[in-house]
Amino acid sequence: MNLQTVHSILLAISYSQAFQYTELAQYVDDHQEEYVEALRDWVAVESDSSNIFKRPELHRMMEMVAQKLREMGGTVELVDIGEQELPDGQTLALPKVVTAQFGSDPSKHTVCVYGHVDVQPAKLEDGWATNPYNLTDIKGNLYGRGASDNKAPVLIAIIRTSTAFMWLYFYISLPQTITDLPVNVKFLIEGMEETGSNGLDAFILAQNDTFFSDVDYIIISDCGWLSRRPALTYGTRGNCYFFAEVEGPKQDLHSGVYGGTVIEPMTDLIGILDTLISPSGKILIPGIREAVAPLSDEEWKMYQDVEFNLDHYKNETGVNQLMYNNKVDLLAHMWRYPTVSIHGIEGAFSDSGTKTVIPAKVTAKFSIRQVPDMDPAVVKKQVTDYLYSVFAKRKSPNSLKVTMVIGAKPWLADTQHPLYEAGKAAVQRVFNMDPDMIREGGTIPIARTFQDVTGKSIIMMPIGGFDDGMHSQNEKISRYNYIEGTKLFIAYLNEVAQIKSTSV
Ligand SMILES: *[C@@H]1O[C@H](CO)[C@@H](O)[C@H](O)[C@H]1NC(C)=O
Ligand SMILES: *[C@@H]1O[C@H](CO)[C@@H](O)[C@H](O)[C@H]1NC(C)=O
Ligand SMILES: *[C@@H]1O[C@H](CO)[C@@H](O)[C@H](O)[C@H]1NC(C)=O
Repeated sequence: MNLQTVHSILLAISYSQAFQYTELAQYVDDHQEEYVEALRDWVAVESDSSNIFKRPELHRMMEMVAQKLREMGGTVELVDIGEQELPDGQTLALPKVVTAQFGSDPSKHTVCVYGHVDVQPAKLEDGWATNPYNLTDIKGNLYGRGASDNKAPVLIAIIRTSTAFMWLYFYISLPQTITDLPVNVKFLIEGMEETGSNGLDAFILAQNDTFFSDVDYIIISDCGWLSRRPALTYGTRGNCYFFAEVEGPKQDLHSGVYGGTVIEPMTDLIGILDTLISPSGKILIPGIREAVAPLSDEEWKMYQDVEFNLDHYKNETGVNQLMYNNKVDLLAHMWRYPTVSIHGIEGAFSDSGTKTVIPAKVTAKFSIRQVPDMDPAVVKKQVTDYLYSVFAKRKSPNSLKVTMVIGAKPWLADTQHPLYEAGKAAVQRVFNMDPDMIREGGTIPIARTFQDVTGKSIIMMPIGGFDDGMHSQNEKISRYNYIEGTKLFIAYLNEVAQIKSTSV
């Protein structure tokens, strides 16, 4: 018997053994500090994708990800996805996309893990208690920009992949090998997520027949739990973002001199904005509410089961009255109904003091969160037609221009899909409880892109805690979520391996 044969036999034995969850979980616990150090190294890189001056850091971050994956024996590529055009006409290289592949056994499922390693801006002066780029452990919470969004989840997927062969190495003293991963694992890590994944849609489309051709399932972990209870996310809202510009006099005027003689653009704008939504939250634009998929009894029941405390939510938001005073209505309006939010008015006087200006041109910014079965192209028409007709009734000499600048679709998965059943089983194994089945009120456009382009099934498996402060000051991930999240990923890939091949 040659060495190769011995190798295969031992591998065969290790396959046939029951899934060694307990040992793997112990291994993760034993290596906890190492994983925290890895996160520290990543958080130290100020990979802010919105700041062009930080672009070298972002490039360095992508190299670090590639290096980490290479060290584990993956087939790694750094793919150039072109340039970004800046408002001044200059161009700037986009951070490369990192892809990696571990295993290509056709008898196993292939999962693709998507994540990003760019971050939102953060400065100590913004009100951070610690340096945002120096991971700081305070009472079991690891504070740092990008800790939860999305560096720790990406590391978790990488650690899980490395754990597979470390374990084999450790216990049966074979050379490191990745063949005992229960599924083939691919990685797709980008560096522009926080500013809209510039260049990624084209990349996905271009790779549909290559990188994605053998992918069965896509795993995204770019969101958080709703409470202390682990969760699986099965939907996100889309978003249509509008500008409404009213223009009148050729320059700003003084209200003492011209007030009462001209029809003011701001008055027109406020007038039409007030026709978008009623004080009780009812959207007044014809056709929008009619497009929303009805709430089924099963869905109602699912909301009932979700762990959610209205009083905590009030406390967290600092309001004493919410739009709805029962859990189901509140969750439904957070996740599965559209809403209008008015964000600001460009050109309006907004400094302190009492300037008596009549602004000549004002532009309102508002958005409408999208849910099934709304269609951004239709919403665009509904909103513009409606606002022009409301404006026409004012008989104003001013001009109105409405434009839609973002039209992102919602995403919804089937909670009975084997991918979600696998998720429920993995949460049971690690946390000994059923997960909350939740949706995200926000938009994660990449999920919809993956679905529309590749047609593959997608699951969102959040790792972050409900109070991680993903885009705010003092972002953190708890050690608990980081380490147990790693175990969850271990258990999850094993469950996915059991999915019958006939499922899609
Ligand atoms: C990070 O913070 C620790 C204290 O929590 C300090 O000892 C260390 O010098 C800091 N590192 C950097 C790079 O600022
Ligand atoms: C509300 O939040 C504050 C901290 O912001 C906390 O001290 C207080 O215990 C909270 N109250 C409830 C009812 O959760
Ligand atoms: C991508 O490939 C899948 C087959 O894996 C195919 O069903 C789908 O139509 C392709 N998408 C596009 C946009 O060509």
